[in-house]
Formats: sequence, structure tokens, C-alpha cells
Amino acid sequence: MDARFLERPKMKRLLDLAGMLLLYVAAICSVVLVPQLRATPAAGGASPAESAQDVYLDKCAVCHAKDGSGNTVKGRKLKVKDLRAPESQKLSETEMIEIVSKGKGKDMDGFEKELGKDLIKQIVEYYRGLAKP
Ligand code: HEC
Repeated sequence: MDARFLERPKMKRLLDLAGMLLLYVAAICSVVLVPQLRATPAAGGASPAESAQDVYLDKCAVCHAKDGSGNTVKGRKLKVKDLRAPESQKLSETEMIEIVSKGKGKDMDGFEKELGKDLIKQIVEYYRGLAKP
């Protein structure tokens, strides 16, 4: 670009404007489109197990550990039971859903409001699945 071109104030302002516009468009695209692109695979093909796993890892694993053993700093402190322990194994799926929904003891809060019934059912299925080799 030659200097004379840039010296013309009107043209320069126009170019600035175009630059700004491009920035705006890019910003809007990244805000609007990127989450949609990310959401698409989940909406299309992700199995419920995957999202249940994500939530388990996010909300439960601090205490119950990734493998359900309860072997984490917090889990040991609160004496979280190993999922494979007989006391845990004898709980039915329904009983576990109840515990996760309403909470148990003073250390585990209920998750009904936060997660909803359907998701809790899926998480419990996932959690119980951890006990299988
Ligand atoms: C702050 C730590 C903590 C978090 C977070 C937590 N729990 Fe617990 N959970 C406990 C404790 C402690 C117990 C045992 C309570 C008792 O026996 O009095 C328990 C008990 C349970 C039980 C009953 C099993 C048993 O053997 O007693 C299930 C099922 C369970 N939790 C699932 C979950 C799920 C699913 C999540 C995530 C949505 C979760 N927990 C999040 C601490 C936690």
C-alpha cells in the first residue's frame, strides 16, 4: 500500500471502520458459533453415559474417587465407603438414587435440585458400573 493512500484521512477512517467491523464479526462468531460447534457432537451422538461420567467426575469424584473407591483426601476424611464394599453393594439402584437425591448423613448433600432425577439415575448407573471389572 503506498503512503499517499494511507494519508487520505477519509480512506483511513474507512479502513479503521472495516477493521473494527471485522473484529466485531470475529468476536460475535466466537461467542455464538464456537459453543454451538462444541454442542453439536453432544446433541448428535454422545451417549448419556458420557455426560453422566462427566458429571460424576465433576461433582462426585472429589469424595468418591474416579474409581468409586472413596480413596481421595476428602473421601478418606469423610469415611466414604468403597463402592465395592458389601454395605454399598447391597444398596439397590433405587436406594442409591434416593441417597444421591436427598443426601446422606451430614457430609453428603442431596443433588436433586442441582442435577434432576434423570441425570441422577444416569450417574448412579455409571457409579454402579464402576464396581464391575
Ligand atoms: C463432600 C463429599 C461427597 C460428595 C461430593 C458426594 N458424596 Fe456421596 N457420599 C459421601 C459420604 C460421606 C457418604 C456416606 C454417608 C453415610 O454413610 O453416612 C456418601 C454416600 C453415597 C452413596 C451411598 C453409598 C454408600 O455406600 O453409603 C452414594 C450412592 C453416593 N454417595 C453417590 C454420590 C454421587 C453420585 C455423588 C455426586 C452426584 C456424590 N455421592 C457426591 C460424600 C460425598
